[in-house]
Amino acid sequence: MARGRAKMEKVKEILNRYGNSKDNLIQVMLELQNISGTNSLPHDWVVFVAEALDMPVSRVYSVITFYSMFGNEPRGKYLVEVCKSGPCHVSGAKTVLQLIEEKLGLKPGETTEDGVFTLIQSSCFGACDIAPAIKIGEKVYGNLTAEKLTEIVDSYREGQHNG
Ligand code: FES
Repeated sequence: MARGRAKMEKVKEILNRYGNSKDNLIQVMLELQNISGTNSLPHDWVVFVAEALDMPVSRVYSVITFYSMFGNEPRGKYLVEVCKSGPCHVSGAKTVLQLIEEKLGLKPGETTEDGVFTLIQSSCFGACDIAPAIKIGEKVYGNLTAEKLTEIVDSYREGQHNG
C-alpha cells in the first residue's frame, strides 16, 4: 500500500507545517480534506491526527461534526453550501435551497450520482452583505436569483471550474 503510506507522509507533513498544535486543528483538517480526493476526512486520518496531537479521537470528531464544511463520508467534488443563518434566511435562503434541490435533484446531505455535487446547509460564511448567498467549493455567490443559480450550476456542470 505504497499509496496509503505516501498519503500518511503527506498527513504528517501538514501536521508539522502547523506545528503539531491543537490550536491549528481546523486548518489541518481543512488541508487534509482538500488532499483526500473524497472531499471528506477518512477515519484513519482522524485517528492519526488525534494521536499526533494527543487528543481523544472523540474530541476530534466532535470538532469535525460541529462544522458543516467537514465530512466523514466521501462527498462530491464540489460542496454546495446554502447559508441558513439570519441575514440569508430573511433574504430568501429557503427559496434558494428549494431551487438548488430541484436543479441538482438532491436533499441536504446527498451527493449527485456523477459525484460532482454534495448539497449541505451551512452557517454564515461572511457574505451577509450579498445575501442570500451560497458557496461552491471556495467560491461565494450572492444576490442570487433563479436565473443566476441556473447559470452558476450549469457552469460547474460544463466544467468551467477546476477547483
Ligand atoms: S448570513 Fe449568510 S453569509 Fe452571512
